[in-house]
Amino acid sequence: MLFLGILFFVSACAAIALSSSKNFTGPTSIAEKDSTQTAELLADARASSAAPVSTSALLFSASSSSSSSPSINSSPLGPISISSSTKVTTVDPFSFPATSRSLALGVCWAPKHNMSSPADILADALLIRRHFRQVRTFYSAYYQTPVMPYFVQAGLKAVLGVFMYPDEPSWTEAEKRVAVQSAISFPSHTVAIYVGNENVAPYGNYSVDELIRHMQDVREGLREKGVQVPVGTVQRLTEWLREKDEMDRLAEASDLLGVNFYPYFSIDGESLEAQWEKMVKRYPNHMQKIRVTETGWPSAGSPNFANRTASHAQAEAYYQTYVKWACEQRRRIEGEEEKGGGAETFYYAYFDGRAPSTAPDYEAHFGLVTEDGNKPKFELEDGFCPGEKELLQEKDDKTF
Ligand SMILES: *[C@@H]1O[C@H](CO)[C@@H](O)[C@H](O)[C@H]1NC(C)=O
Ligand SMILES: *[C@@H]1O[C@H](CO)[C@@H](O)[C@H](O)[C@H]1NC(C)=O
Ligand SMILES: *[C@@H]1O[C@H](CO)[C@@H](O)[C@H](O)[C@H]1NC(C)=O
Ligand SMILES: *[C@@H]1O[C@H](CO)[C@@H](O)[C@H](O)[C@H]1NC(C)=O
Repeated sequence: MLFLGILFFVSACAAIALSSSKNFTGPTSIAEKDSTQTAELLADARASSAAPVSTSALLFSASSSSSSSPSINSSPLGPISISSSTKVTTVDPFSFPATSRSLALGVCWAPKHNMSSPADILADALLIRRHFRQVRTFYSAYYQTPVMPYFVQAGLKAVLGVFMYPDEPSWTEAEKRVAVQSAISFPSHTVAIYVGNENVAPYGNYSVDELIRHMQDVREGLREKGVQVPVGTVQRLTEWLREKDEMDRLAEASDLLGVNFYPYFSIDGESLEAQWEKMVKRYPNHMQKIRVTETGWPSAGSPNFANRTASHAQAEAYYQTYVKWACEQRRRIEGEEEKGGGAETFYYAYFDGRAPSTAPDYEAHFGLVTEDGNKPKFELEDGFCPGEKELLQEKDDKTF
């Protein structure tokens, strides 16, 4: 029961995203809307980048972002072959040096817009870029449009979600293809790929074996192109804590164990540290693979089923707790004081949401900024932990 509400929200997004098309076949060309704000933010993003991202790598010309209709038909998203080998070969996550591949802080992108065009995705990315350099997406394609090029254009690293549709397996396959192709096109911006979100049985619709097979497909697709990006899965703390051999098998087969946990939904009032410790104790052999993929506290709404309340002050205090913890955790790993996970973490979420009418009222208030995206609820910094920016520029000039 830890995370029931958000699941509804995410599922609802999926329904909204795909209701306009029956068969998800990949990108379509969508005319980009004029957006003065987008153009201005893009100019800002470029001006403030230490080393602006190369636009030659993008799927369309950045110069058209404020004018007519950039075509994404020239995207490299052709059919790629993904074999369905069931052999599991995991990659050592420490072969991806944390300092060149990811940042300690990141934020989840629950889309601001309900009818996204590429212009809307880019607009969201540029708003996020004011306060973060790393984002987690639930979808690799949104409204049939691959999202990665827009995050890259805004100068953001990303972990890509492969959203899974039990009723439309072809959409899941399309998500896998887009995720793989995005990582191939933008390897230095793709921090990881997470296959599935809060969907392992019996809570969700997928068996451990199915999740492993889908992860393996993605891994095969990457390997064929010689691209090394870790492939994991995101599940709730409740499921990861199950004392079942099969969760150990899932952990074994995942390069990364993404865990979503919320002290806000804890009946026992557990803290962020307490929930993290439970996860780490459950998987002592996979400790270094564990990542916080969602945590947060709403700024408004009625008390939830655990009797936790929500207020602006509580949201701000929890955000500060999160930033402090995430930065300290990263420092511990980099200092090699101890072996442990948490190299990168993701706060839920950047934008306030459009919760479906059936969801509890607090669902719409997890955002760090108001729904229009223009007003941070409290002070947000630049997405770097102390000293991180300097370290990254030293090690990897091309990062930003
Ligand atoms: C969707 O795809 C299936 C199988 O590929 C096909 O039979 C069906 O006609 C398609 N539906 C639409 C609306 O294109
Ligand atoms: C988009 O969201 C706004 C605000 O919640 C709502 O008024 C509008 O009807 C929605 N549009 C669509 C197409 O869902
Ligand atoms: C399982 O699939 C059904 C049908 O698509 C869906 O309504 C439900 O939300 C899914 N459950 C989870 C946990 O994803
Ligand atoms: C929440 O508070 C109500 C009223 O104080 C109480 O009856 C209920 O048992 C509490 N629920 C939990 C989960 O603590």
